[in-house]
Amino acid sequence: MTSMWERYRDMLGISHPIVQDGMGPQPTTMLATAVSNAGGLGSISSPSIVNTSETYLRDGFRAAIEYIAAHTDAPFAVNVPVGRVASGELLPVSETCISEAIAAKRDGGKVGNQLVALTTSAGYPGEFIATIQAAGLIHQAKVGSVRHAIKARDAGTDVIIASGYEMGGHTHVNGVHTMVLAPQVIERLNCPVIVSGGLCDGRGLAAMLAMGAAGIAMGTRFIATVEHEWHERYKQRVVDTPEWGDQVFQGVYAPCRGLKNPGLEKLPEALRSKTPDEFQEWEEGEMRRAMREGDIENGLLPGGQVAAALTDMPTVAELIERIVRDAADLLGGAAATAEQLRLGRVTTAA
Ligand SMILES: Cc1cc2nc3c(=O)[nH]c(=O)nc-3n(C[C@H](O)[C@H](O)[C@H](O)COP(=O)(O)O)c2cc1C
Repeated sequence: MTSMWERYRDMLGISHPIVQDGMGPQPTTMLATAVSNAGGLGSISSPSIVNTSETYLRDGFRAAIEYIAAHTDAPFAVNVPVGRVASGELLPVSETCISEAIAAKRDGGKVGNQLVALTTSAGYPGEFIATIQAAGLIHQAKVGSVRHAIKARDAGTDVIIASGYEMGGHTHVNGVHTMVLAPQVIERLNCPVIVSGGLCDGRGLAAMLAMGAAGIAMGTRFIATVEHEWHERYKQRVVDTPEWGDQVFQGVYAPCRGLKNPGLEKLPEALRSKTPDEFQEWEEGEMRRAMREGDIENGLLPGGQVAAALTDMPTVAELIERIVRDAADLLGGAAATAEQLRLGRVTTAA
């Protein structure tokens, strides 16, 4: 029987069941390029979650898409968080990035060949799924609950990314943790399910493949890699994060998980004194301050609980090879355990 990983591999044309999840508000161009070059699925992230300047968005997003296509021959994806205004229309920032990705696909050439998937996150992409697919893109929906996974699948999405509450960045209002969410989504849906949230190594990949997932997606683990373009201080701060070093705080359109620092102390006052629009701009600015300028004391540091499990900063290729090799070893060794389990059942029955 064809496994979900084989199905996903053949849909996307990648070599390893490892996806780099989107990490805005920066396009993560160098990281995505390194991940795709190493056989995983790199994702260009949204350059902003609040800036509505079409020129800024189109230019930044398109430049990143063109860069990655020029620096790898492998497939890649783009990630667009979906937000809506009160009347239900898509936020300009979401609409601009979705239409730019579709335009890049339709323009064809090397970019169009290699841009294989569009991942939406945060909100419900509904009416846009058919348009995304009509352009020839695989639609991946990132969700944090079984009900949202079913809703997206019923609307025709191709792939579900099930992300547990321990994830870094904007997480879910009603948090369901990875080990509760993943088995249910895999069981309920007959489509490739990629699991994310708290995963960083071969153990996580082996567990999810054994469970029937098509692969794993990671954010925080990929921040602490040589090729990631954020400031070295941010990257090292992720590695240095101790257990209990993360915290969920109020973010732009949902709670956000980040790493504890003095910068978080400014949050209550910002929430009190700013309009929602001002707060969004403030939050994005504070994240950029840490990501670009390396101000890890005063900026905001989105990052996942799994930061506490990280001890090194490998190259992306070393990391992906290690995860795949360790998972293969674990799954190979598990055959003997499976035999023992079967024997145990027979013995008990007898
Ligand atoms: C710094 C940071 C920024 C993120 N930005 C985005 C984003 O722009 N869009 C999105 O869909 N998810 C975003 N996320 C969530 C990731 O895509 C991914 O779901 C999450 O990192 C997975 O959990 P992990 O951090 O435990 O690996 C972000 C995560 C981090 C750590």
